[in-house]
Amino acid sequence: MTMLAEPVSAICLVKLHPLIGAEIRGVDLTRPLDADAQRQIKDAWHQHTVLLFRDQNLSEDDQRRFASYFGPVARRVPPKPGAKGVGDSPDWHDMMMVTDKVDAGGKPLGSLGHGEMWFHTDKCYHRRPHRASFLYGIDIPAEGGHTKFSSLYAAYDRLPADLKRRLDGTMVIQGQQYGVGRRIDITLPLETTHHCRQPIFVTNPGSGRKALYVASQNSMWIEGMDRDESEALLARLFAIAEDPEIIYEHVWRPGDLIMWDNLACLHARTDWPPQQRRTLRRCTVEGEPLY
Ligand SMILES: [Fe+2]
Repeated sequence: MTMLAEPVSAICLVKLHPLIGAEIRGVDLTRPLDADAQRQIKDAWHQHTVLLFRDQNLSEDDQRRFASYFGPVARRVPPKPGAKGVGDSPDWHDMMMVTDKVDAGGKPLGSLGHGEMWFHTDKCYHRRPHRASFLYGIDIPAEGGHTKFSSLYAAYDRLPADLKRRLDGTMVIQGQQYGVGRRIDITLPLETTHHCRQPIFVTNPGSGRKALYVASQNSMWIEGMDRDESEALLARLFAIAEDPEIIYEHVWRPGDLIMWDNLACLHARTDWPPQQRRTLRRCTVEGEPLY
């Protein structure tokens, strides 16, 4: 049965933080959205980077349909053969269960397990980084397990002028170490891990604004510098990108759907008590190469 598109006369928007994030109210994502509603939400997303929709009751198909308004829904990418720390055996379709639940035999029922994850941006280590991520809250711990979002536009804007000049046109190697929620081991053989050189400054195709495209979990080194110089400079950039003043911290409720722009923000996960479980469902949409 074909559902009629949901008419939305005007989006009700409430900012979550002065620099990043807005809640959209009055939209039921279990219904298809008409072109006008899609346009309003896309405009809000370009402006605010992170959008929150509360009190949703989304099936996988609902989540996939909403994501598809923003680009082709991406298939998940298996790790490189031989990569260590892969904690699950998913079938690599387009939905990922982000959960620390295990079956009776102790086998993980999803991906990304338990505990803190440092700031990162999804799929920055691919030639075509996935543009947006859509995360839906299902089982939420009573405390912790928050998601922090930092504005990479604000990070760029806050760079000292001499650093902007020095880094203009520079490339950074972005990588992913599966099963590690902290800084990637920069001595890893590159052939064992997904990695890609990317511009350190990215002009966002939706907003036209420039962002500082580094992440303390993913960024390995800056091209054209020796490792000590790169490490010192990356440490400065990570501190700017993770300044608490440019961060919105989201406290999840079941039924929250959050979408974000992977070219305009970083996200990180806070820890939660070991006896509590946490389950969310994620999909992403494809993006374009950055150069
Ligand atoms: Fe992520």
